[in-house]
Formats: sequence, structure tokens, C-alpha cells
Amino acid sequence: MSRRLSGIIIWGGTVRKVRLPKANGPQARSLLFALENIAEPGWVKDRHSVASVSTVDSFRNLPKTLRLTIATGWGAAPLLVIAAGVISVVSGILTAFGLLATADALSVLLRTTITPERISESIPEVSLVLVIYSARALIESLERTVEASVRPHVACAAENNLARVVSGIDVIAFEDASFRELAAQGGQAGVRALANSVTPLLGLLSSIATVTASVVATSLFHPLLAIGVVVACVPSAWAASRSSRLNNLHMLGTVSDHLQKSILAEISTDSRFAMERAVFGLRDRLIVEYELVSKRLCQKEITSGLKRARIQLAGRALSGLSGAVAFGVLAILLYTRWIDVAVAGAAAVAMRVSITSVTGAAGRLYNLFELGFSIELYKDLLRGAAERRRSVGSVAFLETGPDIITMSAVGFCYPGHSRPSLCDINLTIGRGEVVAIVGRNGSGKSTLAKIIGGLYVPSIGKVFWNSVDLAYVRENDIRKNVSFVAQTPMAWPTTAGNNVEIGCHADLPIKEWWDRSLKVSGAGDVIDSLPHKMETLLSTRFVDGRDLSVGQWQRLAIARALVRNGSILIADEATSALDPHAESQVLEFLTSSKESMNQVTTIFVTHRILNARKADRIVVMEGGRIVETGSHNELMQNPEGHYRLMYEVQVPPINTRG
Ligand SMILES: Nc1ncnc2c1ncn2[C@@H]1O[C@H](COP(=O)(O)OP(=O)(O)O)[C@@H](O)[C@H]1O
Ligand SMILES: [Mg+2]
Repeated sequence: MSRRLSGIIIWGGTVRKVRLPKANGPQARSLLFALENIAEPGWVKDRHSVASVSTVDSFRNLPKTLRLTIATGWGAAPLLVIAAGVISVVSGILTAFGLLATADALSVLLRTTITPERISESIPEVSLVLVIYSARALIESLERTVEASVRPHVACAAENNLARVVSGIDVIAFEDASFRELAAQGGQAGVRALANSVTPLLGLLSSIATVTASVVATSLFHPLLAIGVVVACVPSAWAASRSSRLNNLHMLGTVSDHLQKSILAEISTDSRFAMERAVFGLRDRLIVEYELVSKRLCQKEITSGLKRARIQLAGRALSGLSGAVAFGVLAILLYTRWIDVAVAGAAAVAMRVSITSVTGAAGRLYNLFELGFSIELYKDLLRGAAERRRSVGSVAFLETGPDIITMSAVGFCYPGHSRPSLCDINLTIGRGEVVAIVGRNGSGKSTLAKIIGGLYVPSIGKVFWNSVDLAYVRENDIRKNVSFVAQTPMAWPTTAGNNVEIGCHADLPIKEWWDRSLKVSGAGDVIDSLPHKMETLLSTRFVDGRDLSVGQWQRLAIARALVRNGSILIADEATSALDPHAESQVLEFLTSSKESMNQVTTIFVTHRILNARKADRIVVMEGGRIVETGSHNELMQNPEGHYRLMYEVQVPPINTRG
């Protein structure tokens, strides 16, 4: 809950300062969604220290970052990677040879005054220049061709790798907002960056070959000239590193703004918000807040862009200056007759080419530093996903399920939260037992249900199936045994039939069980009312697709769980949206599971006490703890008990007697 105190919002006990928009009316209004102090994802802090490293360290880290591009390409098409590398180096070397040959031709031509004889004498040198440059043009087009094949290979391999790793993530990881944000930022951006890094990486390889060869060539004219060229490279490299660093810091500095913008965009366009957005007339306020955030982003963009432009300008000026110094050295050498005019001309060409290729390399470096940032996020995502992978249990478990489920001193904290949502849960459930979990909103019912079903692993304590610690059971064997109806029914965008059988992997249920599940859940009636019955597409994104009401979706969700015929059925507020007739039909079926469902262990969560009455055992939750357990009659014996008090709130006392 929040209270507003002149620009300070008190939210859950912590004070957050909020900048208010200009008041139009007599009273200033607080922001609804564009709250400045939106939680910054945890990974942003880690990335800050990486993004603000020194120029030297950014160069030192670059190979580590680019190793992933090479490794990804290597995994997908090793021969192409070798070809691309070799061709780039050859192209760089050819550039340098071209330069040497040009210098050579020039020195022949400039040795004395140019005469027709001198020109014909220099024909071999000039021809060599032409041959080399023709070869270079050829190799350049080869370079483009190979590069065009490597790029898609890298993108495809990176995407597949990501899909493989992300699909193995433990379900609880998706409750971690910081990780969700990393997945959103690091996933697609990382894949794009890896693919986009291919071109500048190959370009850089070729530039390194050119620069090395041309510096060596220049040093042959005079070592001082080579030193001049190297010194002229430094400002460009510095500017590339500094401005990409600024860009990366800017990106980190705007993560929260982008988050706010995406929240506002979601609220403005997502159908889930459409009804209340209209009912509460939020359109104008959303527009005001959207503009507030986008103006802030725009301002930050301009500030960062100007800073980068200043750095690039300084880099250009410094490299121009150091280039001038290098050419000054050449002039001095010429003036003091350390070198003659012919050599000086050739040296000047060599220096010019070196400096130009260094400038090109600096541009590629800038690209790579920038892309490297997203590649590092992608790496973080892969690492984070690997850490969040469910530990692979190796113990097999029969599909007939456990005879007994035991929870021993179980506690659970959601990721990123220090306050436990469950504490000290001790509970034993026998095969075929029907257990109702009741309690107020937020008391921990859904969390407990997910732990019993092996969806969440306890933070402390253990869950045993028979005497086997559930943490060591093969995940597939857990899934085969558990059927789960979630609190919010999932609307799968596929046919009605697929919506029911989506959880039956290998074998479809026998016809009798299938029909019974559809009948009990009421899904059969829903499907019969659809134009193409089982084949009706249930998403308006399809041509002729339909949508259902929440209650109808809930019927399909119940059918989906029932047809799986798992040994444990967990239903979390599964009947909350059903009409009374459908609800009593489902509950009747669930609570008579011993007879009707072949000894299925049934756990159902409800906050309607009347629904729990028929369960073999009722577990009452309060503040993440079990505060009472027993049958309806046992719990009603305690006049001060939580259950009895809840019951009397929902059912008039006269009904509680007898
Ligand atoms: N994804 C989540 N991240 C953090 N806290 C959560 C999450 N889901 C539930 N909680 C917290 O855990 C507690 C128990 O939630 P839950 O088991 O859903 O309650 P119930 O089903 O009884 O209404 C609540 O205090 C709730 O705020
Ligand atoms: Mg719940």
C-alpha cells in the first residue's frame, strides 16, 4: 500500500522519492507507473564495474569476449571460420604488399627526374602493384562471400544454444524479476551482437595484418617513422575505447528508464489491462507518464551522445596532431638528408596507409567494444541459466507414484527475497488421500502446493517420496506423476483438442478416461459448443480463432490435468471461476478420488471453506506456516481455531451445529 506525502511515496515501509509532474489542478498527483526508483536488476550493478574499466583493461578483455563469437562460429561451421580467418589475414597482408610495392615503384620513379626511360624502367614494379591490387580486390570479394555465410551460422548457433540452455532452467528462475530482465536484454540482443561481431572481427583481423606489415615496412625506411606511426595510433584506440565505454555506461544508466517505458507500453497495449484502462479513464495519465519517461530518455541520449562526440573529436584531433608529428619527423629526416627524396615519398605513402588502416581498425574496435557489451550480457545469461538449471536427479521413480509424501522442516524463499514465504512445514500425505489446503490470501497455499508437486525445490528442509529425497528424483519421473491445475488457467494458442491433450506426451489416455475427464471438468460442453469442436483454434491470432471465458479456460485446464491421470493431482483454486454447478461437479469428483480416481493423491487449494469440508484432511495455512491440520469435524472442535473462525465467517453459525 502507498501513501503520498508531497512527493515522497511510502511503499511497503521504504521511503522513495518521486519526481511529480507539474500540477494542473489544485492538487498535485503522484505518478502511477513511471516511478523513478523502479528496482534496478541485479546484473546492472555487476555490469557497471565491467563497463567502467580502464582503456587498457578494455583491450585486455576484448579477446575473452570475442572468443565466444569464434567458438560459436567454430561449433557451427569450422571450415568456414578457418577460411574467413585465413582470407582476412591474406587480405591484410596483400594490402601491405600493395603498399610496399607502391613504395618500391615510387622509389624507382622518384630516384631522379621522371623521364620516359625511367617510366619504362619502372614497368615491372608498377605491374606488381597492379597485380597485387587486383588480387586484393578478388580476395576482398571472397572475404565478403565467406563472411556472408559465417554470420548466419553464428546467429543460428547462438540462438539454438540459447534456446537449449533457457529451456532447461528451473521454473522458479522465472519468478526472479532480475533474471527475467537479463533474459529479455541478454537473449536476443546477445544473439544479434554475436552475429554482428563477425564483420568487424574479420575486418580487425585484416587491419591488424595491414597495420603490422605497414609498420614493419615504414620501419625499414627509418625506425623513427615507425615509432611515429605507432604513436599516431594511440589516440584513435583511446577514443574508440572511451566512447564505447561511455555508450555502455549510458546503456546501463537507462535500463530502469527502458523498464519503465516497457511497463507503460505494456499497460497501454496489452489486452489484460484494456478493460480497467478504459473503466478508470487512465489514457491521459498514461500519455503524460509515457512522455515523462521518453523525454528523460531523450535527454540522457543527447547528453551521452554529446560526450561521445567530444571524445571522438579529441581522438581525431590528437591523432591528427600525432600524425603531423610523424610527418614532421619525416620532414626533419629529409631536411637533414638522413633519407633521400625517393625514399621519403615511399615512406610518406607507407605512413599514410598505416594511419588510414589504424583509423579503420579503431572504428571496428569501437563496434566490437559496443557489441562486446551485449555479448557479455549473453554470456551472463548463459551462466545464469546454467546456475538456475534444476539439479539433475538420477533416481528413477515409478509412474505408480509414491505411497507416502513427507515434507520435513521445509522452508522456502522466492529468489531475491529474504523473507520466507514458507517456514517449518512438516506434513505427511498418504496415497489416495484427499488434502485441502486453506488459508487467507498470501498465506502460502500456492507455494506449498508447488513444493509438494516438485515444481519448486525447498530452500531448506526436504520433500520425500517414500524414502527418496525428491531433489534426487529424475525430473521427468516427477512430471509424469504430477498433474497440476494452476491458479490462473493457461490459454494455449492451439486447437481445443491440443489444449486438453498437451500434457499427454507419448500415449494418449484410454477413451473411457478421456471422456470421463471431459465430462467431469465440463470441458466437453465447452468443446461441443465450438464451431469446429476439438479442431477449433483457441486464439484470436489465428484465422477464425476463438477465445473463451476465464471459466471455460479453467474447465479445459482441469480436463488437461485429469486426462494425464498422474498419481498426484494438485489443483490450485482450480474451480474459482466455475459456475456453482460445474464447481460442485468437479469437487465431488476430486473429493471422492479414492473411488473415482484409482487412488490418486489429491491436494486442492481453496479459500472457500465449504469446498474443503469433504477432504480427508484439511491443512490450514497462516503466514507461511501450517497452523492446524485435521478433518472438518476435528477442526470444528476447537472454538478458537483458525479453521472454525474462517468457517463461521463463511457459513452462518447455525449451519455449524451438528
Ligand atoms: N513470485 C513471487 N515472488 C516473490 N514473492 C512471492 C511470489 N509469489 C508469491 N509470493 C509471496 O509468497 C507468499 C505466499 O504466496 P502464495 O503461496 O501465492 O499465497 P496464497 O496462494 O496462499 O495466496 C505471499 O506473501 C506472496 O507475496
Ligand atoms: Mg494462491
